[in-house]
Amino acid sequence: MIEIIGPLSGPASSSGTASASAKHATLQKQLIERLQQAILTGRLPGGSLLPSSRLLAAEMGVSRNTVVIAYEHLAAVGYVIADKKGTRVSPLSSPTARGEPQASSGVPDVAYAARVDRFAATRTHVANSLPLTPGTPALDRFPLGAWRRSLERSMESALPRALGYGDPAGEPALRDAIAAHLRMARGVRCDGSRVVITEGAQEALNLCVRLFTNPGDIAWIEDPGYRGAKAAFNLGDLTMVPMPVDPEGIAVPSDAWRTHAPKLIYTSPAHQYPTGAVLSVARRLELIAQARRCGAWLIEDDYDGEFRHTGEPIASMQGLVDDAPVLYVGSFSKTMFPALRIGFVVLPRAIAAHTEAALQEMLRGGHRLEQLALAHFIESGEFGRHLGRMRRLYRERQQALRDALSEYFAPAQILGGDCGMHLTLRLPPDIRDRTLVERACATGLNPRALSGFALQQRADTNGLVIGYGSTPADRLAASVRVLAELAGLPADRRSV
Ligand SMILES: Cc1ncc(COP(=O)(O)O)c(C=O)c1O
Repeated sequence: MIEIIGPLSGPASSSGTASASAKHATLQKQLIERLQQAILTGRLPGGSLLPSSRLLAAEMGVSRNTVVIAYEHLAAVGYVIADKKGTRVSPLSSPTARGEPQASSGVPDVAYAARVDRFAATRTHVANSLPLTPGTPALDRFPLGAWRRSLERSMESALPRALGYGDPAGEPALRDAIAAHLRMARGVRCDGSRVVITEGAQEALNLCVRLFTNPGDIAWIEDPGYRGAKAAFNLGDLTMVPMPVDPEGIAVPSDAWRTHAPKLIYTSPAHQYPTGAVLSVARRLELIAQARRCGAWLIEDDYDGEFRHTGEPIASMQGLVDDAPVLYVGSFSKTMFPALRIGFVVLPRAIAAHTEAALQEMLRGGHRLEQLALAHFIESGEFGRHLGRMRRLYRERQQALRDALSEYFAPAQILGGDCGMHLTLRLPPDIRDRTLVERACATGLNPRALSGFALQQRADTNGLVIGYGSTPADRLAASVRVLAELAGLPADRRSV
């Protein structure tokens, strides 16, 4: 028994000051605790017979009375059962007490750590108000007055009704407003019944995974690509296959459709994140045709689609052909503000009708006042006007960033810029992007390392993803100059 519960440590009696009863009580307490632990962890399985009080007392070097009282206590609280045949461990229901492997001890086991580490960010959260942060809109230019009026209007017209659970697919008024906007601005084929409101694009991606895949299914992901898509695929235990990206967007090797037939494909065709490539029409049509052929679903994350800066707007892939196997995902995180946490997915017609009952169980219909306010904000034309103002602002800021990069990182290889709020700068191999980003963060600048978005590290994924959305044009040049200094670029490598 001593091997199972371990020897008891002697009380502080060596000084000769502890009374006999105090010593007795301490040993008794220890013995009770040791036996409880052995029972809870399964080292003393349910049903096992404990030694008699006389035998255990002799083995542990304590008085028989100490053991008798310990056994009585354990019986009183249900750890053991005492009868004429002796004292036995109770058949407790905890798996550990039944001697099964310990499932949850409060300390992460190897499997748990491996599971959670798949989601781990490459770095900790940094304030996204810092200059050069990608993906942060110009929050100081958001029309707060108009938004406040929309919120007040929804409070006046919908309270207290809107305090209860809403339609799981979202407020019908918002679904209709989004559908009308998408038909006109993005060429999406839809009506409100096909729009499902989600908590940002992230929940829309998670929903696509849950609705369209089973664990182990093959999912293609752009490489380098959006980490949120990777997280959603990990959540569904999908088998991820990285697809390279070139200046025309996702570049699928022709035999991949046969060798790694996908169930789900993530793309950001309007402005590939983070390289900024715009998916060519030829590739869009090829993706749709092949996906249809092999029964796969395409997620079209229309990231940055609303902020087109060059040429004519390019309509969505979803609207290219009728009944395309496309799950169109959007978000108001950039067009409004990130904390709004409202996004959506447009489901194919037949799927939408079929999925209604499942959505009732999967979603809960919250944030009703914000949804109603957003519907009003869109319908009243405020949203369109805000987009127009932001497009002009971002164009101006992008130009300032381009000029600064050409000046301080000459000859700068700049990717993207047809849409959005960021540019990507390729770096030469002697400047490691992660090292530069670490130094930049220490000085209060917040670009991202291109390699942090890569599933497979290659020479062409060494670079900086630089946001200009939230940085005023006149601060961009100074910020880029600091970056060049941190990169150790000698003055003669700059075209100043
Ligand atoms: C490629 C891409 N898609 C979508 C989003 C929007 O995500 P969410 O709506 O969850 O904020 C982001 C945010 O940075 C993004 O980078």
